[in-house]
Amino acid sequence: MTAGNKRFQAVKGTRDLLPLETAVWAAVENVARRVFGLYGFGEIRTPIFEETELFARGVGESSDIVSKEMYSFVDRGGRNLTLRPENTASVVRAYVQHGMHALPQPVKLFYIGPQFRAENVQKGRYRQFHQIGAEWIGAGGTRADVEVIEMLWRFFVELGFADLTVRINTVGDRASRSRFRKELVSYLRPKILELSEDSQRRLLTNPLRILDSKDSRDHAALLGAPDLSDCMSEESVLFFNDVCGQLQNRGIHFVISPKLVRGLDYYTNTVFEIVSEGLGSQNAICGGGAYEGLVEELGGQPTYGVGFAIGEDRLIEVLPEATRAAMTPRGPVLLRALGSSIEVLAATAALAEELRAVGIPALDLGEETPQRTFAHADHRSSPAILILGEDELKTHCVTVRTTADRKQVTVDRSELVAMLSPPFGGAAGKREP
Ligand code: HAM
Repeated sequence: MTAGNKRFQAVKGTRDLLPLETAVWAAVENVARRVFGLYGFGEIRTPIFEETELFARGVGESSDIVSKEMYSFVDRGGRNLTLRPENTASVVRAYVQHGMHALPQPVKLFYIGPQFRAENVQKGRYRQFHQIGAEWIGAGGTRADVEVIEMLWRFFVELGFADLTVRINTVGDRASRSRFRKELVSYLRPKILELSEDSQRRLLTNPLRILDSKDSRDHAALLGAPDLSDCMSEESVLFFNDVCGQLQNRGIHFVISPKLVRGLDYYTNTVFEIVSEGLGSQNAICGGGAYEGLVEELGGQPTYGVGFAIGEDRLIEVLPEATRAAMTPRGPVLLRALGSSIEVLAATAALAEELRAVGIPALDLGEETPQRTFAHADHRSSPAILILGEDELKTHCVTVRTTADRKQVTVDRSELVAMLSPPFGGAAGKREP
C-alpha cells in the first residue's frame, strides 16, 4: 500500500457509534437524566483529561487502573496529564475546586461521558468506554447509600430489566481495612508461590484485590484465609446492617457478597455492583460504593461520598429487546418526485417541509428511481413512500405506498398528516419506554 491510500481504522478498543445506535444511546441517557433528576441530581461535565496526580492520589497508585491502565502523556508545556479513566476523582476535584462544601449538603451530581483505560479488549471491554454515573457528596450516612442504590435500581427498572441483582458488601472503615490487610498479607506471604502471577504482584501492592480474583490457584490459596468481617469495627458492622435492612424494606433485591472488594482504593464501608445474566464473565454493568477519605485526600475537608458508575457500552449490549425496539427511531417518510418538472420538484420539497413542521420526519429524494427509493426505504425503515407527479398536483392528491404491506393508495392532501401520524410513522423517534 502506498502512503497515499492508507485506509484508516478506529484505534483498537475504540469504535464508532452509527446513527441507529446513537439514537438508542441518547434515549438511554435521557432516561438517566430524567430519573436522576427525580432525586435532585444535577449534571456535571468535567474535562476529559486531568493532572495525572489526581488519579494517582484519588484512585490509588496500587489500583490496576493507575498502575497499568492509564493513558498518560506529557503535553507541550511539560505537564503530566491523563485521559480520565473514571470520573469520581474529577467530580471530587470539582467539588473542592468550586468550594461546593459551602453549598447546602449533600451536593448531588451525575455525569455521562467517555472514559479511557488501556485494557485487554474483549466482549464488553473497550479502551474508550462510556459511563453514566452519580456522586452524592456531603451529609452522608446509611440514607445516602440506600438512596443512591435505590435510584440506580429505579433506573434499571425503567429500562425494562428484570434479571438484575445488587451484590453488596462492606470493606469496613479505614482502620478495619488496614487491620484486615495486615492479617491477609501475613496469611498469604508463606503461600506466595501458590498464587497467580497477578496476585503475587497484588500481595505487595493491593492485597484485598486477591479476594475477588477469578484464578483457581488464588481460590485454593485463600481457603482458610482470615475473613474481612472478623476485622470489622463495630460501627462498620452496624452501618452495613442498617444499609441492608433499609434496602430490604424498599424491596430491592440484593445478595451479600463477602468477596466483593472492588478495584479502586478509595472505597470505605459499602461497596456494590449490579450484575446481569446476559454478559458472561464481564457481567458487571455497574459498580460503586462509599468513599469517606477521598474529598480530604484531594484537598478538601473530611466529607462523606457515595456513588456509582454504569458501563454504558455494556448496558446497551444487554438492553432488553423491547426497550431497544421502543428506543429505535422509525425512519423518515420518503418523498419521490415523478419527473423533473420544476413545479413537481418544488411541490415535493414544500410537502416535505409541511410534514416536518408537524413533527413527521421526511426525506425528500427528488427525482429518484423506484429501485433506489426502495433501497432507501429498506435501509432507513421508512414507513411510507409519498409520490408526487403532475396528476397529483392537479388533483391535490399524493400517492402513498406503505412499506409494511406494499399497498399503494391515492389520498387527498388534507388527509395525509392524519394518515402519517402515530402509530403509523409520525413523531418518529420521540418514544421512550
Ligand atoms: P468501575 O467499577 O471501575 O468503577 O467502573 C464502573 C463500570 O464501568 C464497570 O462496572 C463497567 O461496567 C464499566 N467499565 C469499566 N471498565 C470498562 C471497560 N474497559 N470497557 C467497558 N466498560 C467498562 C468506577 O469507575 C467508579 N468511579 C465508580 C464509582 C463512582 N464509585 C463511586 N462513585
